[in-house]
Amino acid sequence: MKYEVLTMLNHADKYLSGETISKKLGVSRTAIWKHITSLRNEGYEILSVTNKGYLLKRDSIPLTNYQVLQNYNGDTKLYFFNELNSTNTKAKEMANEIIDDKALIYSRIQKQGRGRLGRNFHSNNLSGLWLSFVYKPAMNPEKATIFTLAASVAVCKLLKKECQMDARIKWPNDIIVNGKKLCGILTEMSCEMDKINYIVVGIGLNVAQLTFDDSIKDIATSLYLETEQKYDRGLLIGRLCYNMDNVYEQIINNKIPDIISEWKKYALPMGQKIVIYKGKEKINAKTITINDKGHLIVREENGEVNAYQSGEISIRGIMGYS
Ligand code: BTN
Repeated sequence: MKYEVLTMLNHADKYLSGETISKKLGVSRTAIWKHITSLRNEGYEILSVTNKGYLLKRDSIPLTNYQVLQNYNGDTKLYFFNELNSTNTKAKEMANEIIDDKALIYSRIQKQGRGRLGRNFHSNNLSGLWLSFVYKPAMNPEKATIFTLAASVAVCKLLKKECQMDARIKWPNDIIVNGKKLCGILTEMSCEMDKINYIVVGIGLNVAQLTFDDSIKDIATSLYLETEQKYDRGLLIGRLCYNMDNVYEQIINNKIPDIISEWKKYALPMGQKIVIYKGKEKINAKTITINDKGHLIVREENGEVNAYQSGEISIRGIMGYS
């Protein structure tokens, strides 16, 4: 319903009264007012004037396929959706049919975004980038973790260039700004013993949110909250595609060490005290580095040095981000 209100405002070239909208959509004016508030929270600038109604400001920047194509003319095949439950789920459904080597599935709205370790990812709004790249590299599945590291580098470079933002990577898959999470990455794979069928690299980047759910408001941030600037999401997606093309080239040309060394430049400092959650186990440790497979090397409080893969643990305690 909220987006029906948005559509009406988007098509109007003058103020629309609450009454007109409520009659057309068959709901109360109070309901309309709540939808307007929620749209404003997503970053849409909606003016309201007594006795006139509501007007969507034209410089609120909606996401369109056209904007992406204006900013990218590489060879990643683009699939644009208005609304999906999860771009990663859709990418996996489509992956076998996709004949291209590289594809991108992106959606304006993502209703049930998925995070690592089976968690939910808050993305049921129009304020972010919700997208999934699909790749079919001829390489050993063991090396697939490099895709998460590579995507982290691609996102940090994007943020530096387009937003002048000094973002850091929190191993394995979070992009952190000022101690809060700006972006999460979820890499999933279908493979056989020695062959990758496909890899899906899902990226969720908060762009225009003004507020977050109570459950994450202390740990999440958006580009708008950090910079007070509005960003054209189509431009960000287009430029991100180029960055992903570059790291994909590096991966398939066996330049994985180059990605690892770039990753280290963007990573939160090592030598931090962390708590590792491994199933029901809780281990105090200090980060040392990552190895050439992208596994995190830590020294545990009993002195043991261990390497962990991203799928087996979650960590807390780096730079106050939990
Ligand atoms: C995490 O923080 O645990 C990873 C979050 C990954 C979220 C992105 S949003 C686009 C893509 N589709 C999903 O369902 N998840 C990823």
